[in-house]
Amino acid sequence: MENKAFLARCLISFLGIFFHMPQTAFGDGSYSFPEEMERGSVIGNLAKEMGLEVSKLAARKARVEADGNGKRYCDVNLSTGDIIVADRIDREGLCGKKSLCVLTQELVLEEPLQLRRIVLNIQDINDNSPQFKKKDIHFEMSESAVKGSRYRLEEAHDADIGINAVQEYSIGKNEHFRLNVISKSGGGKYSELVLEKELDREQTQTLTIVLVGTDGGAPRRSGTAVVHVTVLDANDNAPVFTEAQLIYKTSMVSRKWMDENYKHFFLRPLSEFCCLVYVRMYFIFSIR
Ligand SMILES: *[C@@H]1O[C@H](CO)[C@@H](O)[C@H](O)[C@H]1NC(C)=O
Repeated sequence: MENKAFLARCLISFLGIFFHMPQTAFGDGSYSFPEEMERGSVIGNLAKEMGLEVSKLAARKARVEADGNGKRYCDVNLSTGDIIVADRIDREGLCGKKSLCVLTQELVLEEPLQLRRIVLNIQDINDNSPQFKKKDIHFEMSESAVKGSRYRLEEAHDADIGINAVQEYSIGKNEHFRLNVISKSGGGKYSELVLEKELDREQTQTLTIVLVGTDGGAPRRSGTAVVHVTVLDANDNAPVFTEAQLIYKTSMVSRKWMDENYKHFFLRPLSEFCCLVYVRMYFIFSIR
């Protein structure tokens, strides 16, 4: 019998190559159902979808075999012809972030020997929550940070796909920041804090903001991280130039002065100086 089955399989493979048989040929069954269904759940019926006679299934020793060395994911109830889930299927474990999760199984019938393909299309359910790798995010911000300054926040990750992956972010109500959500070109979203009201160290030394990432499943799932902001004193002794003054001053100073002082500027957080000034300074000195 094994031999016959092997020969039939070879013949089918050969015909497949020869005629470029489509993925689901006539007589094959294709079933779409959600992951994580209970063992024994009915996902289809051999009589209805594959045109087989239920009364003959037992006599023909109908059985499901895994394709290759894979696992058996479905089974047949010989008295009803129902195709049932053989074991719980975890889509993320099998297919990760792939948008299509397709498993093939083989239905074997004897007398006469017949092989039919069963294609299982596993759909994602929202069984995972968004998660931030770091539960605590720390920022040091100078009180001289200007309105509109942006601080990129870590992206939340969700093992699910499509609408069941992270769709939006929000932050707890606070006086200083609003949240900007950005869609990445390759899919996925992240957010950034945008300074709306300038920080004042005399009033606030630290700020704690709860960041929430939410997916679009039903029901929705979410994950949180806590953003800790430490407000730093602006250095009162540091010279505050307007852009024009800075160009004037820096264009007058010597190379020696720059060598002695550049660390003072370059090692500071960028937010303390306008980017334009930073770039201009560099430019002026590089052409000297
Ligand atoms: C097959 O289906 C019948 C009717 O639903 C049920 O009574 C029986 O337990 C099932 N057999 C198996 C092996 O699942």
